[in-house]
Amino acid sequence: MDRSDDTLFAPLTFRCGVTVENRVALAPLTNGQSNDDGTLGRDELLWLCRRAQGGFGLVETCAAFVSREAKGFVGQLGVATDAHDEGLATLARSLETEVTVPIVQLYHGGERSPSALTGARPWSAVASKQDPATHPDAAREGTTHEIEQAVEDFVRAAERSKRAGFAGVEVHGAHGYLLCQFLSRNNVREDGWGASLEGRGRMVREIVRGIRARCGSEFLVGVRLSPEDFGFAAGMDLDESVTFAQWFAEDGADFVHLSLWDHAKPCQKRADEDIIALFRRALPSDVRILVAGKIWTPAEARSVLTRGSDMVSLGRSAILNPDWPMDARTSGWAPERGPLSASELESMAISPRFVEYLKRFKSIVREG
Ligand SMILES: Cc1cc2nc3c(=O)[nH]c(=O)nc-3n(C[C@H](O)[C@H](O)[C@H](O)COP(=O)(O)O)c2cc1C
Repeated sequence: MDRSDDTLFAPLTFRCGVTVENRVALAPLTNGQSNDDGTLGRDELLWLCRRAQGGFGLVETCAAFVSREAKGFVGQLGVATDAHDEGLATLARSLETEVTVPIVQLYHGGERSPSALTGARPWSAVASKQDPATHPDAAREGTTHEIEQAVEDFVRAAERSKRAGFAGVEVHGAHGYLLCQFLSRNNVREDGWGASLEGRGRMVREIVRGIRARCGSEFLVGVRLSPEDFGFAAGMDLDESVTFAQWFAEDGADFVHLSLWDHAKPCQKRADEDIIALFRRALPSDVRILVAGKIWTPAEARSVLTRGSDMVSLGRSAILNPDWPMDARTSGWAPERGPLSASELESMAISPRFVEYLKRFKSIVREG
């Protein structure tokens, strides 16, 4: 079927001027395939290049740590020190194809950065309720100096990404990591970095403004959000998330990436509300919306675009279907949904280390 008039395969220009060739993004996916010091691992390079070859218009790296204390995963890519630069430049150069625009997801784990990886006790907006006597990794409350330093670390990581050749960055404000911990209603600190909506939004706002100021008007900048309280993203409220998104757009963000886990799941706060349409109404039309969450088929992707999203972002379906954007052009094509054996996954540029990590997600890896 000729799909030349199909929005899914139509180019999209962000307000910074960056254009992607189609509306299909590779979601940021932690894969544990880099080296212990955060330098790029060969398997991480191969895994991402394989998706770029498959025709994804936008390819996001995994959540990449912005400082040593920010690290959250074994084998995680770093964007924190000069030692990371060479690998980042190789990655940017290898990913940029005629179709693919590559960006880095910037990450700080906050209370979810284990001391075994960082060498330091984690900190967050507020202290953990766990007793440090019995839970040595219970987060303490961060100081204002640490917050300011973390803001600077995010901005420097964006500068590093730009120098390496990436077209932009996504600030990871979702899934209960440091920035989400600050946006959350659980952030009751009263020193201007919490409590009120302004206080809770301040950290991400300063990061977005800092990136825009120091990386220039043509650098692609987005923020990922968990719009509602779900899983680790505790204390997130739908209407507050809409206000945050509006502020980030004012501060210079080109896009907001809604992490929904399931695009078809009803809104928790108002069951009859279409969450995508809500954000679409609230944001200026040139601020783009990306949506992730159980988008498997081209028909589902198109329906998500119809609801007000500008791009779809694929996680599990991209793991199992490296050529999704190319295959989806064929009428009647149905995606592989797994589970697949380790060797089948390996044929899709997924190394044994990534296979191990994937075992925590249901129905990707076939045991035995
Ligand atoms: C293996 C795996 C790793 C993930 N790593 C990240 C990550 O590094 N950063 C992030 O924001 N989300 C991460 N996510 C969430 C995905 O980006 C995506 O939002 C989620 O998987 C829902 O989309 P899907 O239903 O298409 O998989 C991860 C998900 C999976 C399955």
